[in-house]
Amino acid sequence: MRIVLRDVTLRYDAGLPSATTALSGICLTVEQGECVAVIGPTGSGKTTLLEVMAGLTAPTSGVATIESAGAVRGLRDAVGLAYQFPESQFFEETVFADVGFGPARQGLAEPEIRVRVEEALSRAGLPADKFGGRSPLSLSAGEKRRAAIAGILALSRPFLLLDEPTAGLDPSTAERIADLVRNEVRAGRGVVVVTHDLEFVEAVVSRTVVVGGGAVLADRTTADALADGVLLEGIGLESPPYYALMDRLRRLSHPELDRIGLVLGGARGTGDDRQKP
Ligand SMILES: Nc1ncnc2c1ncn2[C@@H]1O[C@H](COP(=O)(O)OP(=O)(O)OP(=O)(O)O)[C@@H](O)[C@H]1O
Ligand SMILES: [Mg+2]
Repeated sequence: MRIVLRDVTLRYDAGLPSATTALSGICLTVEQGECVAVIGPTGSGKTTLLEVMAGLTAPTSGVATIESAGAVRGLRDAVGLAYQFPESQFFEETVFADVGFGPARQGLAEPEIRVRVEEALSRAGLPADKFGGRSPLSLSAGEKRRAAIAGILALSRPFLLLDEPTAGLDPSTAERIADLVRNEVRAGRGVVVVTHDLEFVEAVVSRTVVVGGGAVLADRTTADALADGVLLEGIGLESPPYYALMDRLRRLSHPELDRIGLVLGGARGTGDDRQKP
Protein backbone atom coordinates (compact mmCIF):
# COMPACT_ATOMS: atom_id res chain seq x y z
CA MET A 1 0.00 0.00 0.00
CA ARG A 2 1.29 3.45 -0.85
CA ILE A 3 0.30 7.12 -0.80
CA VAL A 4 0.63 8.49 -4.33
CA LEU A 5 0.62 12.17 -5.30
CA ARG A 6 0.77 12.88 -9.02
CA ASP A 7 1.36 16.41 -10.25
CA VAL A 8 -0.52 17.89 -7.30
CA THR A 9 -1.19 21.63 -7.31
CA LEU A 10 -3.07 23.38 -4.51
CA ARG A 11 -4.27 26.97 -4.73
CA TYR A 12 -5.86 28.69 -1.77
CA ASP A 13 -8.48 31.34 -2.57
CA ALA A 14 -8.36 30.52 -6.28
CA GLY A 15 -9.73 33.40 -8.37
CA LEU A 16 -9.45 35.96 -5.54
CA PRO A 17 -6.79 38.65 -5.20
CA SER A 18 -5.53 36.73 -2.13
CA ALA A 19 -4.89 33.58 -4.22
CA THR A 20 -1.80 31.62 -3.10
CA THR A 21 -0.25 28.65 -4.83
CA ALA A 22 0.79 26.52 -1.84
CA LEU A 23 1.75 23.39 -3.81
CA SER A 24 2.90 23.17 -7.39
CA GLY A 25 3.39 20.00 -9.46
CA ILE A 26 4.16 17.72 -6.50
CA CYS A 27 4.95 14.09 -7.40
CA LEU A 28 5.57 11.90 -4.35
CA THR A 29 5.10 8.29 -3.30
CA VAL A 30 5.31 7.00 0.28
CA GLU A 31 5.26 3.26 0.85
CA GLN A 32 4.00 1.49 3.95
CA GLY A 33 6.96 0.70 6.19
CA GLU A 34 8.85 3.76 4.99
CA CYS A 35 9.80 6.83 7.04
CA VAL A 36 10.08 10.12 5.14
CA ALA A 37 11.05 13.57 6.42
CA VAL A 38 9.73 16.71 4.74
CA ILE A 39 11.91 19.76 5.39
CA GLY A 40 11.67 23.29 4.01
CA PRO A 41 11.39 26.95 4.96
CA THR A 42 8.36 28.49 6.62
CA GLY A 43 5.47 28.95 4.18
CA SER A 44 6.89 26.40 1.73
CA GLY A 45 3.74 24.24 1.78
CA LYS A 46 4.69 21.47 4.26
CA THR A 47 1.49 21.52 6.32
CA THR A 48 -0.60 21.86 3.16
CA LEU A 49 1.22 18.83 1.74
CA LEU A 50 0.33 16.78 4.84
CA GLU A 51 -3.31 17.88 4.56
CA VAL A 52 -3.42 16.73 0.95
CA MET A 53 -1.74 13.42 1.88
CA ALA A 54 -4.35 12.94 4.62
CA GLY A 55 -7.21 13.53 2.17
CA LEU A 56 -8.37 16.57 4.18
CA THR A 57 -7.70 19.05 1.36
CA ALA A 58 -8.43 18.13 -2.26
CA PRO A 59 -5.81 19.20 -4.81
CA THR A 60 -6.81 21.97 -7.21
CA SER A 61 -5.35 19.74 -9.93
CA GLY A 62 -3.51 16.44 -9.99
CA VAL A 63 -4.25 13.25 -8.09
CA ALA A 64 -3.76 12.20 -4.44
CA THR A 65 -4.74 8.60 -3.66
CA ILE A 66 -3.90 5.34 -1.94
CA GLU A 67 -2.75 2.58 -4.27
CA SER A 68 -3.10 -0.92 -2.90
CA ALA A 69 -2.73 -4.21 -4.79
CA GLY A 70 -3.48 -2.50 -8.09
CA ALA A 71 -6.64 -0.78 -6.76
CA VAL A 72 -7.00 2.93 -6.09
CA ARG A 73 -8.89 4.36 -3.11
CA GLY A 74 -9.30 7.48 -1.01
CA LEU A 75 -6.75 8.66 1.54
CA ARG A 76 -8.95 9.48 4.52
CA ASP A 77 -9.40 5.99 5.95
CA ALA A 78 -5.74 5.09 5.45
CA VAL A 79 -4.01 8.13 6.92
CA GLY A 80 -3.89 9.77 10.38
CA LEU A 81 -2.54 13.34 10.68
CA ALA A 82 -1.24 14.88 13.92
CA TYR A 83 -1.06 18.66 13.50
CA GLN A 84 1.63 20.78 15.08
CA PHE A 85 1.02 21.09 18.87
CA PRO A 86 -1.78 18.47 18.75
CA GLU A 87 -2.06 18.69 22.55
CA SER A 88 -3.79 22.06 22.12
CA GLN A 89 -6.84 20.07 20.95
CA PHE A 90 -7.50 18.10 24.17
CA PHE A 91 -11.10 18.49 25.27
CA GLU A 92 -12.08 15.34 27.20
CA GLU A 93 -11.66 15.01 30.97
CA THR A 94 -9.39 11.97 30.89
CA VAL A 95 -6.56 10.80 28.67
CA PHE A 96 -8.53 7.58 28.07
CA ALA A 97 -11.61 9.41 26.81
CA ASP A 98 -9.55 11.74 24.67
CA VAL A 99 -7.64 8.94 22.93
CA GLY A 100 -10.93 7.02 22.57
CA PHE A 101 -12.71 9.90 20.86
CA GLY A 102 -11.57 8.94 17.34
CA PRO A 103 -12.43 5.22 17.61
CA ALA A 104 -15.83 6.18 19.14
CA ARG A 105 -16.50 8.39 16.11
CA GLN A 106 -15.56 5.47 13.89
CA GLY A 107 -18.60 3.75 15.45
CA LEU A 108 -16.69 1.01 17.27
CA ALA A 109 -18.23 -0.83 20.23
CA GLU A 110 -16.98 -0.09 23.75
CA PRO A 111 -14.76 -3.21 24.17
CA GLU A 112 -13.06 -2.52 20.85
CA ILE A 113 -12.54 1.14 21.78
CA ARG A 114 -10.93 0.01 25.05
CA VAL A 115 -8.52 -2.29 23.19
CA ARG A 116 -7.65 0.47 20.70
CA VAL A 117 -7.01 3.03 23.44
CA GLU A 118 -4.89 0.69 25.57
CA GLU A 119 -2.83 -0.31 22.57
CA ALA A 120 -2.39 3.29 21.35
CA LEU A 121 -1.35 4.52 24.80
CA SER A 122 1.11 1.66 25.12
CA ARG A 123 2.60 2.47 21.69
CA ALA A 124 2.95 6.09 22.83
CA GLY A 125 4.80 4.96 25.98
CA LEU A 126 1.95 5.96 28.33
CA PRO A 127 0.52 2.79 29.93
CA ALA A 128 -3.29 3.08 30.26
CA ASP A 129 -3.35 1.93 33.89
CA LYS A 130 -1.03 4.77 34.87
CA PHE A 131 -2.10 7.57 32.52
CA GLY A 132 -5.61 6.69 31.27
CA GLY A 133 -7.47 8.19 34.23
CA ARG A 134 -5.40 11.39 34.37
CA SER A 135 -6.60 14.73 33.08
CA PRO A 136 -4.74 15.49 29.83
CA LEU A 137 -3.97 18.93 31.23
CA SER A 138 -2.07 17.39 34.19
CA LEU A 139 0.49 15.71 31.92
CA SER A 140 4.02 17.01 31.30
CA ALA A 141 4.70 18.68 27.95
CA GLY A 142 6.21 15.51 26.47
CA GLU A 143 3.44 13.29 27.87
CA LYS A 144 0.83 15.66 26.41
CA ARG A 145 2.44 15.43 22.99
CA ARG A 146 2.53 11.61 23.16
CA ALA A 147 -1.05 11.38 24.45
CA ALA A 148 -2.20 13.56 21.56
CA ILE A 149 -0.32 11.38 19.07
CA ALA A 150 -1.88 8.32 20.74
CA GLY A 151 -5.25 9.77 19.70
CA ILE A 152 -4.12 9.46 16.07
CA LEU A 153 -2.58 6.00 16.63
CA ALA A 154 -5.95 4.84 18.01
CA LEU A 155 -7.48 5.42 14.57
CA SER A 156 -5.41 2.37 13.54
CA ARG A 157 -4.46 3.56 10.09
CA PRO A 158 -1.53 2.33 8.01
CA PHE A 159 -0.02 5.82 7.52
CA LEU A 160 0.91 8.37 10.17
CA LEU A 161 1.67 12.01 9.31
CA LEU A 162 3.30 14.21 11.96
CA ASP A 163 3.67 17.99 11.67
CA GLU A 164 6.67 19.17 13.72
CA PRO A 165 6.35 16.44 16.38
CA THR A 166 9.41 17.59 18.36
CA ALA A 167 8.74 21.35 18.24
CA GLY A 168 9.16 22.92 21.69
CA LEU A 169 10.34 19.67 23.34
CA ASP A 170 13.68 19.19 25.10
CA PRO A 171 16.16 16.68 23.60
CA SER A 172 15.31 13.79 25.93
CA THR A 173 11.58 14.20 25.26
CA ALA A 174 12.26 14.48 21.53
CA GLU A 175 14.08 11.14 21.87
CA ARG A 176 10.83 9.57 23.21
CA ILE A 177 9.05 10.79 20.07
CA ALA A 178 11.90 9.37 17.98
CA ASP A 179 11.38 5.96 19.66
CA LEU A 180 7.65 6.16 18.99
CA VAL A 181 8.25 6.86 15.28
CA ARG A 182 10.87 4.10 14.97
CA ASN A 183 8.45 1.60 16.51
CA GLU A 184 5.61 2.62 14.17
CA VAL A 185 7.87 2.13 11.14
CA ARG A 186 9.10 -1.21 12.51
CA ALA A 187 5.46 -2.27 12.86
CA GLY A 188 5.06 -1.65 9.12
CA ARG A 189 3.36 1.75 9.10
CA GLY A 190 4.35 4.51 6.71
CA VAL A 191 5.36 7.70 8.52
CA VAL A 192 5.84 11.20 7.11
CA VAL A 193 7.40 13.76 9.46
CA VAL A 194 7.50 17.49 8.74
CA THR A 195 10.32 18.93 10.82
CA HIS A 196 13.09 21.47 11.18
CA ASP A 197 14.86 19.14 13.61
CA LEU A 198 17.75 17.69 11.61
CA GLU A 199 19.05 15.71 14.60
CA PHE A 200 15.73 13.90 14.58
CA VAL A 201 15.96 13.41 10.81
CA GLU A 202 19.51 12.08 11.10
CA ALA A 203 18.60 9.64 13.88
CA VAL A 204 15.27 8.33 12.62
CA VAL A 205 14.48 8.97 8.97
CA SER A 206 15.82 7.13 5.91
CA ARG A 207 14.51 9.41 3.15
CA THR A 208 14.28 13.19 3.08
CA VAL A 209 12.15 15.35 0.79
CA VAL A 210 13.16 19.02 0.57
CA VAL A 211 10.41 21.46 -0.39
CA GLY A 212 10.65 25.12 -1.34
CA GLY A 213 8.00 27.42 -2.79
CA GLY A 214 5.49 24.56 -2.88
CA ALA A 215 7.67 22.33 -5.07
CA VAL A 216 9.89 19.30 -4.37
CA LEU A 217 13.51 20.53 -4.60
CA ALA A 218 15.10 17.18 -3.69
CA ASP A 219 14.00 13.66 -2.77
CA ARG A 220 17.01 11.70 -1.53
CA THR A 221 18.35 9.36 1.08
CA THR A 222 18.72 11.26 4.35
CA ALA A 223 22.49 10.77 4.26
CA ASP A 224 22.66 12.43 0.82
CA ALA A 225 20.33 15.29 1.76
CA LEU A 226 22.11 16.07 5.04
CA ALA A 227 25.50 16.01 3.33
CA ASP A 228 24.42 18.71 0.85
CA GLY A 229 25.33 21.91 2.67
CA VAL A 230 24.29 24.10 -0.28
CA LEU A 231 20.84 22.48 -0.50
CA LEU A 232 20.26 22.93 3.25
CA GLU A 233 21.59 26.49 3.24
CA GLY A 234 19.03 27.28 0.55
CA ILE A 235 16.22 26.43 2.99
CA GLY A 236 17.83 28.16 5.98
CA LEU A 237 19.17 25.03 7.71
CA GLU A 238 22.66 23.81 8.49
CA SER A 239 24.06 20.32 8.06
CA PRO A 240 24.42 18.47 11.39
CA PRO A 241 28.05 18.61 12.62
CA TYR A 242 29.20 15.25 11.20
CA TYR A 243 27.78 15.98 7.76
CA ALA A 244 29.09 19.57 7.78
CA LEU A 245 32.59 18.25 8.48
CA MET A 246 32.32 15.65 5.72
CA ASP A 247 31.01 18.28 3.30
CA ARG A 248 33.95 20.58 4.09
CA LEU A 249 36.45 17.76 3.71
CA ARG A 250 34.94 16.74 0.37
CA ARG A 251 35.12 20.30 -0.91
CA LEU A 252 38.85 20.38 -0.18
CA SER A 253 38.98 17.74 -2.89
CA HIS A 254 42.37 16.37 -1.86
CA PRO A 255 42.69 12.69 -2.81
CA GLU A 256 43.96 11.76 0.64
CA LEU A 257 41.07 13.58 2.33
CA ASP A 258 38.60 11.90 -0.04
CA ARG A 259 40.00 8.56 1.06
CA ILE A 260 39.62 9.50 4.75
CA GLY A 261 36.10 10.66 3.95
CA LEU A 262 35.23 7.30 2.43
CA VAL A 263 36.60 5.47 5.45
CA LEU A 264 34.69 7.73 7.86
CA GLY A 265 31.56 7.48 5.74
CA GLY A 266 31.75 3.68 5.74
CA ALA A 267 32.27 3.50 9.50
CA ARG A 268 29.41 5.85 10.12
CA GLY A 269 26.82 3.94 8.07
CA THR A 270 23.66 5.61 6.78
CA GLY A 271 20.22 6.47 8.05
CA ASP A 272 19.00 3.69 5.76
CA ASP A 273 20.98 1.06 7.65
CA ARG A 274 19.72 2.19 11.02
CA GLN A 275 16.15 2.38 9.81
CA LYS A 276 15.72 -1.28 8.97
CA PRO A 277 14.05 -3.45 11.62
N1 LIG B 1 -6.08 28.27 4.78
C1 LIG B 1 -5.27 29.01 4.01
N2 LIG B 1 -5.75 30.01 3.24
C2 LIG B 1 -4.93 30.76 2.46
N3 LIG B 1 -3.60 30.57 2.36
C3 LIG B 1 -3.06 29.60 3.11
C4 LIG B 1 -3.84 28.77 3.98
N4 LIG B 1 -3.04 27.88 4.61
C5 LIG B 1 -1.81 28.14 4.15
N5 LIG B 1 -1.80 29.16 3.26
C6 LIG B 1 -0.63 29.69 2.53
O1 LIG B 1 -0.04 28.61 1.80
C7 LIG B 1 1.38 28.66 1.88
C8 LIG B 1 1.89 27.37 2.49
O2 LIG B 1 1.48 27.29 3.85
P1 LIG B 1 1.82 26.06 4.79
O3 LIG B 1 1.14 26.29 6.08
O4 LIG B 1 1.49 24.81 4.06
O5 LIG B 1 3.40 26.22 4.94
P2 LIG B 1 4.43 25.48 5.92
O6 LIG B 1 5.58 25.05 5.09
O7 LIG B 1 3.71 24.45 6.72
O8 LIG B 1 4.92 26.67 6.87
P3 LIG B 1 5.46 26.62 8.41
O9 LIG B 1 6.85 26.04 8.39
O10 LIG B 1 5.44 28.07 8.82
O11 LIG B 1 4.49 25.78 9.21
C9 LIG B 1 1.71 29.91 2.68
O12 LIG B 1 1.97 30.96 1.77
C10 LIG B 1 0.44 30.18 3.48
O13 LIG B 1 0.30 31.58 3.74
MG1 LIG C 1 3.36 24.20 8.78
